[in-house]
Amino acid sequence: MVWSYLLANLALAALAAAQYYEGYEGDEPMLRGQRPRTNPSAMLRFGCSQVVIERLDPLVDPGMAPSSHMHQVVGGDAFAASMPATDISKLGSCTTCHFKEDISNYWTANLYFRARNGSYKRVPQIANQFNDGDNAGITIYYTSPGPNLTTAFKPGFRMLTGDSTQRQSDNFGKKMQQCYRCFTAENWGGSMYSPCMDPQFDTDYFPKQPCVGGIRSNIIFPLCWDGKNLDTPNHKDHVAHPVGGPTSFAVVSGECPSSHPVKIPQVMLEVMWDTRGFNDPEDWPEDGSQPFYLSNGDHTGFGQHGDYVFGWEGASLQRAMDSACYLWNCSLLSPMPPKVKNLCQVPVTVKEELDAWLDELPGGGKGV
Ligand SMILES: *[C@@H]1O[C@H](CO)[C@@H](O)[C@H](O)[C@H]1NC(C)=O
Ligand SMILES: *[C@@H]1O[C@H](CO)[C@@H](O)[C@H](O)[C@H]1NC(C)=O
Ligand SMILES: *[C@@H]1O[C@H](CO)[C@@H](O)[C@H](O)[C@H]1NC(C)=O
Repeated sequence: MVWSYLLANLALAALAAAQYYEGYEGDEPMLRGQRPRTNPSAMLRFGCSQVVIERLDPLVDPGMAPSSHMHQVVGGDAFAASMPATDISKLGSCTTCHFKEDISNYWTANLYFRARNGSYKRVPQIANQFNDGDNAGITIYYTSPGPNLTTAFKPGFRMLTGDSTQRQSDNFGKKMQQCYRCFTAENWGGSMYSPCMDPQFDTDYFPKQPCVGGIRSNIIFPLCWDGKNLDTPNHKDHVAHPVGGPTSFAVVSGECPSSHPVKIPQVMLEVMWDTRGFNDPEDWPEDGSQPFYLSNGDHTGFGQHGDYVFGWEGASLQRAMDSACYLWNCSLLSPMPPKVKNLCQVPVTVKEELDAWLDELPGGGKGV
């Protein structure tokens, strides 16, 4: 029952994706077990449960506890206010990610609802589609066009995408690097285009209307690397978009610029915000405008950003990218059931009210 539901939806997703990306349409029969997948491209898609929610940011505010704004964090238990630029997979002992080999950390800002009286409440997260049993968290994607065509990240690598101070559109259209999908029915109902590609329900700003099935965030990282620096002061300059500009999710072609000649796997984060408890128009601002804020104080949504600290064990990610691994199906990696990965936790060091009504955003929501 559950499987037929999942497969029906995956079929739809594959069909929608195929409208844009030749190659992925061949995947769906494999999921039905009809024939092995022949496409050599790799696309891992797997859930990482929440490992902690707290005001720490080892990339932007290293050593600061609390950092400027709240984050929801997934991945390995080496996450801390400061993380050395060493092999994180050796510092952590467990992970909330589906594959045991992935001790990386991924984090994003949190979402808050602002009531008419000015009080804020954190919007809960739920397990994403196909990730039953996950404790909320983030769904992670890694894509590569084929064997030996991307170079996996090196130990100590980290990067940031998006800009927490941004308040207007980049005008990337269907090549948006961050977006919100407004689900028009329960259970991820609505269009099934690839992330950030839906002309109607994907926007780079917060949806202006209530979303019956919740709001999904997608955050896409660049796919070219300078081949030298594991990090740079703004955590961005060592990576770049291909020469043709920003690329949509699952566009795995694209030539890298000579300044950043090394093609890396494309990383994408996906987060499900359960806004269903905040859809009553009576609770929305009287002028009908939308009521959500990112934890950095952004009321537009343009300031959505994502952080990544690489921490895969040894060459495990490279092997998966070179072996056409697809979704959560990768015989080279060690999957864990949700009840096992959900046990991994990072103790909260910055103690704060998480789920009460708050007079202001944690840290004041100063826009950074
Ligand atoms: C996983 O992929 C392998 C080939 O890589 C295939 O033989 C197998 O049927 C797939 N399993 C599922 C559940 O899709
Ligand atoms: C503000 O409004 C919310 C939602 O109606 C309510 O739950 C909360 O108690 C109110 N806060 C204050 C300080 O009145
Ligand atoms: C990819 O590289 C590995 C290791 O160098 C090699 O064994 C393999 O044959 C290569 N695969 C392809 C398709 O080129």
